Formats: sequence, structure tokens, C-alpha cells
Amino acid sequence: MKTNITTLDNSLAKELLIPITEADITRTTFQDLVSRFGLNATIVESVRGKYKEVITCYPNHDVVNKIHFIGLGKETSFLKLRGAVRSFSFRNKKQLGASLALVATFIDNKTLEAIVNGLELSTYDIALYKKKEENNAHPLTQTTLDIVVRNATETTTEAAIIKGIATGETQKEIMDLINQPAGHMYPQTLADWVFDSGRKHGYDVTILDKTDIQKNGLDALLAVNRGSEFPPKFIIAEHKPAGYEDFKTIGLVGKGVTYDTGGLNIKINGMRYMKSDMGGAAMMLGAMELTAKLNLPIHLITIIPATDNRVDATAISPGDVIGSYSGKTIEVIDTDAEGRLILADGLNYMVKNYQPDVLIDAATLTGSAVRALGSHAGALFSNNQELADQLRKVGESTGERLWQLPLFEEFKNELKSDIADIANLGNRPTAGASTAAKFLEYFTENHSSWAHIDMAGMAYGDSEYSSHKAGLGYGANLIVEYLKDIVK
Ligand code: BES
Ligand code: ZN
Ligand code: ZN
Repeated sequence: MKTNITTLDNSLAKELLIPITEADITRTTFQDLVSRFGLNATIVESVRGKYKEVITCYPNHDVVNKIHFIGLGKETSFLKLRGAVRSFSFRNKKQLGASLALVATFIDNKTLEAIVNGLELSTYDIALYKKKEENNAHPLTQTTLDIVVRNATETTTEAAIIKGIATGETQKEIMDLINQPAGHMYPQTLADWVFDSGRKHGYDVTILDKTDIQKNGLDALLAVNRGSEFPPKFIIAEHKPAGYEDFKTIGLVGKGVTYDTGGLNIKINGMRYMKSDMGGAAMMLGAMELTAKLNLPIHLITIIPATDNRVDATAISPGDVIGSYSGKTIEVIDTDAEGRLILADGLNYMVKNYQPDVLIDAATLTGSAVRALGSHAGALFSNNQELADQLRKVGESTGERLWQLPLFEEFKNELKSDIADIANLGNRPTAGASTAAKFLEYFTENHSSWAHIDMAGMAYGDSEYSSHKAGLGYGANLIVEYLKDIVK
């Protein structure tokens, strides 16, 4: 979406979008608009600013011929603000004209970022494989949107707009990655995407292919890949801005299971959703791309172990013992608990090769996290309460909520194996998200500042923007806002 920052006197747009809260109605700025466009009093009285209310009027004015008042309600949460405008723009895609302005004269910069982000997201086109006969593009992708502000030279306003759009564009990329079906998304496809993104946005990308992965002893990744027709990839992306040696080093690891059939412990329920099993990878890669776009002063490394989890004569069997990058052996009780296996290698490789100050992983790891929190929050685990508090606070502000669950020492007892160093599953069907997190902790080499985000309920789901479950773009903004917070 292209934008042009301007003022009401200078905009020539014919159609105005005016997001408005319940409180704005009484403001003089609103009254000024009413008199400027000579709006009919009865119509103006019907504008209440209620959440998602839309009132359209047709002023008798030589430039502007249509005005949409979009209600933001009383709410000021990022998600709600974004949702009101996104929903309006999405639903009215066919009715909106090509000469548009967003009137942002009475909103603060955080609200503006949310609204612009919502407009960008409203242009997302999910129809990846529809034969497009008619032009279905959203008008906002084909025109320049005027953004009308009080002071067009205000740099903080400009920064909010840039952030909102850049975030939206990356979130659309993430949604595409997740929405790609099994037959279109292989480890190689994911690696190609990262390579292109790195070239476009100026970060380094190293892809380890199967022989490198073997040489490095990333044996848990290789084990999960054994049933697959497609070779695994170990993707390493690195943002090294000038002076990075003096910046904090943050390590991100994302689960990149491009499709999860469960393996020999084949999935009975929900296999069709498992194209989303690289949601953690998409989140962390989105965070990497956005960090590079915004050129944040931080040394950021993202690692993605990528494979699918399939059934074949060569696939790992329940009960098998496998090796891992850490040198520890793992008894595979259940081949469907594959995410933790590849993350064990990703985390251990990160800690040993990059010594990050902070280590964060994200994964669509357990159905248990979905049962506990639904699609309302990602499950957060951390051995560092300061880090957990910081992430939770940021999640509230971006609308990507996190809820902390425990990492009690007792969970470790459930992962005992008689023949290997650790088992990939407890022997009770309880506290599944916590035992999975405990398993991961075992491979972090006692890193003092580690957080694990189980976002199985957040990456993919129902919304008003699709008729089936689809990618939701969760998490990238959360990580970027966290990074902005620590460089402040
Ligand atoms: N990818 C799944 C977890 C998942 C479930 C993601 C629902 C998104 C929505 C993971 O690999 C898995 O299969 N987990 C199993 C683990 C079990 C075998 C211990 C689960 O949670 O059922
Ligand atoms: Zn699985
Ligand atoms: Zn999985």
C-alpha cells in the first residue's frame, strides 16, 4: 500500500475514511469537519463512534463526495483498533473508490499505526490458487492513500505509518507461508523464501542442506526427516547492522515442520490443519524480516530447522532411540511429538554457536496449549521471570497475548527414559504443553534467559477474513516490539 502524508487543505481525495472513537464525537476537531463539509445534522447525530459502526454520508462539496465514519468504540486496544478498520476495508473492497484519504487528525500515533496496519492487512489476498479471471485486487493496492494529519512534517507520525505498513506487509507474507498447502511448501520452499527476503531486506542467510546437516550432527532433525521424500534444511538468518558487535545478541528459533502427518503415530484428527505446523518458523522469520526492514540496532539470529513429518518404511518408529546435536540420546515414544525433536537441535545449535544474550523459541508445539488457552493466547514458558514479564507486557500492547504456564522441576521426572538420556513424551496424558517445554529446556545448556512460546492455537484459525481456518499473522510484531523495547 502506497501512502502520501498530507493535510486536509492539500488532499484531493474524493472519499474519506474517518475512524472515530465514542469520545471523539464531542471534540471540536470533529465539529470542524462537520462544518467544513457542511454535513447534514441528522446524519451527523447518528454517528456515535460505536465499535465497527459505519456511517456513510455524501457531502455537497467540490472535492469530497463520500465520507465513511468508522466507529472505534471506547476501546483502545491495538487489536480492536486494527480490527475495526481492517474489517470495514475488507468488507467494502468492491465499493471503495480509487481516490481515498484516511483522516487521522484526531488520533495518536499508536492508534494510527494500528489503523494503517489494519488497512494493509485488509488487502490480503488468500486466493493463492484461484484462477483469477476478474481483477480482484483491493483498491488500496492500486492507488496511493492520502493520510491526512495535522502536521505533515511530524517525524513520529511518519514513523508510525511506516511501522504499521511494514508490519502489515510482513504479516501478509507470514500468512502466505502458513496458507501454502503441503504440496506447495517444502523445506526448500521455506529456504527459498528466506533467501529472497534476506536479499530484499539486507540480512544474511545461510542454508545448511542435508549433507551439511549430517556433517554437523543435527541428528534429531535428520531422524524426523527420515520418512520424508524431501531433504531437510537448516536455515540460519542473521541481521548484522553496522556496529552490531556492540549490540545485544538475540537468538530466535522457530519450528519449521512444513507438514505434520504425525509420522507412524499418524494423526487421527486435524491432519488437514497441519500445513500450519511451520507457524513458529513463520513468526520468527517475520520478526527477522521486520527487524531488518526497520534496521533495529540489535544483533539478531534466527534459526529454522525445517522438515516435514511423514510415513515411510524408513521413518522413525515409536520406541526408537535417536541422537541429537547436543550429543544426548532421545527415546521417541511418539513420532507425533516431532516439533520438540527438531527444536532440540535448533536451540542447542543456537546456544553453542552464537551464545545469545536472550534465547526465544516459537512453535505450534502441542494440542495441550490449544486446549488450555484456545485461540486467546500463546502459552509462554520461561526460566527468567523478567523476560517472561517483558514478553507478556509487549503481547498485551500488540494484541498478541501470552499467558505464562509453569516449568516445574517435577515435569522432568515424566520425561525419564530407561534406555536413553530423555524421552520425548511423558507417560501421562497431562500437562502436555509444560512437559514439552521441559523437554526443550533440557537442550538449552542452562541458558539463563530463555523463553518458549507454544502458539499452536494462535498461528492458524477462524476469523471473519476467511471461510476456513487460515494463517493469522501472529507473533512477528510481538517479537519486534520486544526488540524495540530492549534497545530503548
Ligand atoms: N503440530 C502438533 C501440535 C498442534 C496441535 C499444532 C494442534 C496445532 C494445532 C504437534 O506436533 C503434535 O502433534 N503434538 C501432539 C503431541 C503428542 C503426541 C504428545 C499433540 O499435542 O497432540
Ligand atoms: Zn506432531
Ligand atoms: Zn507438529
